[in-house]
Amino acid sequence: MKKTVIALTSVVAAIAATSFLAGCGKSEVTVEPGLPFAKFTDALHMVLDNDRAVYTKNVVGRLAAKEKVIKASEHWTEDKALPLPAQMFRMGAELTASKDAFFSYSLQSLWPINKSNAAGQTEVEKAGLQFVADNGGTAPYYSEEELGGVKYFTAVYADVAVVPVCVTCHNEHKDSPKTDFELGDVMGAVVIRVPMDS
Ligand code: HEC
Repeated sequence: MKKTVIALTSVVAAIAATSFLAGCGKSEVTVEPGLPFAKFTDALHMVLDNDRAVYTKNVVGRLAAKEKVIKASEHWTEDKALPLPAQMFRMGAELTASKDAFFSYSLQSLWPINKSNAAGQTEVEKAGLQFVADNGGTAPYYSEEELGGVKYFTAVYADVAVVPVCVTCHNEHKDSPKTDFELGDVMGAVVIRVPMDS
C-alpha cells in the first residue's frame, strides 16, 4: 500500500514537472536522479513555448486581432486589456520563482524592450544568447555554471520572430534598442536553469 502511494505521488509530480514522461508506460518515475538535464529543460521549454503560442493564437489572436472584442496592451491594467504574451510569460516565471521552485526560467534578449529582460546576468547567459542569435535558432545552447557555490545546468532556447507582428511591435516600440528586426530573426531566448546537485 505504501509503495503504491509513493509510486502515485512520484508519477503525479513527474507528469506535472515533465510532461514528456507521460505515456512512457512506467509506473514509477522520478525527476531525479538519472534524468538527463537537457531532457528535463527541453520538456519544460516545450510546455512554456506551447502555452505562450496557444495564448498568442487563441486568446490574443482571436479576441484582439480577429474578433476585436478586447485589446492586448503592455499597459493592460490601466487599459483594461489583455497582457502581452511576453508579459504572461514573465508573470509565470515570477510566480514560479516566488514558490522556491528548484529550477528557474526567464525570457531574455540582447535587445530588450524591458531592461529587466536584459541578457547577460552571467557569462553563460551572454554566450548562450549570442550562440542562438548567431545560429539562427537552429540549436539550443547547453552549459554548466557555478553561481553562489551551486552548480547549475543552464539551457538557452532561441525566441524567433515567427509572425510579422513580432517585428513591427518591437521595431516601433519606443524602448526597443533595436529597430531593424526581420521576420525569422532570433529576438531573444528562454533561459532555463537547474541545480545539478540537489
Ligand atoms: C504588441 C507588441 C508586441 C508584440 C506583438 C510582441 N512583443 Fe515581444 N515584447 C513586447 C513588450 C512590451 C515586451 C516587454 C514585456 C515585459 O515587460 O517583460 C516584450 C518582450 C519580449 C522579449 C523579452 C525581451 C524584451 O524585449 O523585453 C522577447 C524575447 C520578445 N518579446 C519576443 C517576441 C516575439 C518572438 C514575438 C512574436 C511571437 C513578440 N515578442 C511579439 C511587445 C511585443
